[in-house]
Amino acid sequence: MASLPLSCATTTTTSATPLRHSSPPPLFTKPSLFITRHANGSHHHRGLHVISAQKQNDNPESTHPQGKLDRRNVLLGMGGLYGAAASLVSTPPEASANPVQAPQLDKCGTATDLNTGKKLDLNCCPPVTDNIIDYKIPPALRMKLRPSAHRVSAQYMFKYNLAVDRMKRLPDDDPRSFSQQAMIHCAYCNGAYDQPGQGSLDLQIHNSWLFFPFHRWYLYFYERILGKLIGDPTFALPFWNWDNPKGMTIPPMFLDEKSAIYNSKRNQDNLKAIVDLGMTGNKDPLQVVSNNLTVMYSEMIRGNADVYDFMGQPYREGTAVNPGPGSSERGSHTAIHVFVGDPREPSGEDLGNFYSAGRDSLFYSHHCNVDRMWTLWQYFLPSNKVPDKKITDPDFLNASFLFYDENKQLVRVSVKDSLDNLKMGYEYERVDLPWLDYRPPPQAAAARITRTSASAAPKAETLFPLKLDRVVRFEVQKSKKGKADELLVLENITVDTTKFLKFDVFVNDEDDGATELDKAAYAGTYAQVPHKTANKTATTSIRLKLTELYDDMDVGDDDTIVVTLVPRHQGPGVTIGGIKIIENPTPPPS
Ligand code: C2O
Repeated sequence: MASLPLSCATTTTTSATPLRHSSPPPLFTKPSLFITRHANGSHHHRGLHVISAQKQNDNPESTHPQGKLDRRNVLLGMGGLYGAAASLVSTPPEASANPVQAPQLDKCGTATDLNTGKKLDLNCCPPVTDNIIDYKIPPALRMKLRPSAHRVSAQYMFKYNLAVDRMKRLPDDDPRSFSQQAMIHCAYCNGAYDQPGQGSLDLQIHNSWLFFPFHRWYLYFYERILGKLIGDPTFALPFWNWDNPKGMTIPPMFLDEKSAIYNSKRNQDNLKAIVDLGMTGNKDPLQVVSNNLTVMYSEMIRGNADVYDFMGQPYREGTAVNPGPGSSERGSHTAIHVFVGDPREPSGEDLGNFYSAGRDSLFYSHHCNVDRMWTLWQYFLPSNKVPDKKITDPDFLNASFLFYDENKQLVRVSVKDSLDNLKMGYEYERVDLPWLDYRPPPQAAAARITRTSASAAPKAETLFPLKLDRVVRFEVQKSKKGKADELLVLENITVDTTKFLKFDVFVNDEDDGATELDKAAYAGTYAQVPHKTANKTATTSIRLKLTELYDDMDVGDDDTIVVTLVPRHQGPGVTIGGIKIIENPTPPPS
């Protein structure tokens, strides 16, 4: 019944699904109510596809960086056709299983310790009730605007602080209380729930296509509860703008020890440090910022060949956990969890571990920015760069979750109702996207790996399966001689889920100790936040698109490339089953 999620979004082609972009995305039909005006007077347009060059000029984000407007408009004109072609090749086959069902609250079990595999002395389970209703999103009378946490006013901070304070004062058994809200994350992420009707198979919303929709709903109700507690239905959560240099430290309001949003369990060395999205340990602040922008460019644009590469791999009823995290989940998202988590705590609590992450208010602002990345991906990124933005698979659309709403009503929500943030009544303050064109400079021929060191590298076939506990370099055959549009596939990556793990992938790079990611040779990343799964290991896969890299490295004429894997964690924990290069089933933009 269930298809093999790892293979499906990678190599197989199918023509089973109707054209994905043959009809306009929902934003085309939005009433003008949803076009809002911002403090700076600019319109908020999402559908770059449809707006004119003139209107784009109103839009602060679309004018950055300089000189992109015309090219983008021209290319966007082809988005429909191109997207349609892409949809023919990247839909998983056998998309006929069943969606993952909302958990049964009365079967909620204890969560499990991440280091020992033993049951935690911790009950993550919410109050049980039979009274569940299918949630209908109320009409948005006024759009909520989620502000950048670094830029909020004193008045906003006061309001937010008051709301969280009231949430913390609710009795523990109130499903809206801060502790109950925090436990939602624990329950969905640490094996407290099984998939209904699937024996003891864990329900786990990370490392799969459920990642974005689940967290969106989670924040949605969290925000509504806060708004209710201060009698302000327009209250909107602040987002931590870690993708912009101005937001690359913990937002100061979270550091005020007297405030309700303060948390003492954070890495004390990082309270004012620049976030390290690349997790290379480089200490030069300017290099770290440049690495961060490179990571953003790579995970949002350069490395993704289709929607699953970004969103995460299919996860259906009856399939094992962790089919494969999307680029944003495994990259910047993981990095922030690890950056804030407190190394003095046994398992990196609070943010450094899934079961405890929701206990830090910063979690919700972190995830607002993660959610913002989804909206940018859907509605802003140029279609020629990320052609295939929607998942139409019913097992995705019909997956469901349970939450308590602001009135303590237990509600069932589905993925399909979470696809459009405007329909859910909120949007994000517009800020600059400095990573949008942060493509690394082409690497000069002299910087390319020499034939000597290439021939010194062993052939990949001789090394795999490979235990990745040191830097490894090897040669991989391209799928085609000469210039080709290709993907690097790392398959059967078996990970110890209880550990922080990360490795970077470089192509034709001679530097073993590279902590500089802002170069053409950087192909992408695997990383994970520690979490529990039934047997402490999971098997997953990732793919990295090489199209731009080939251009920038002038790899066109070679038959092989040399791949370097650089682990950023200590010790064992990752075994990679195989590596191969396949032709990109998505046609390159012409
Ligand atoms: Cu549910 Cu950032 O984790």
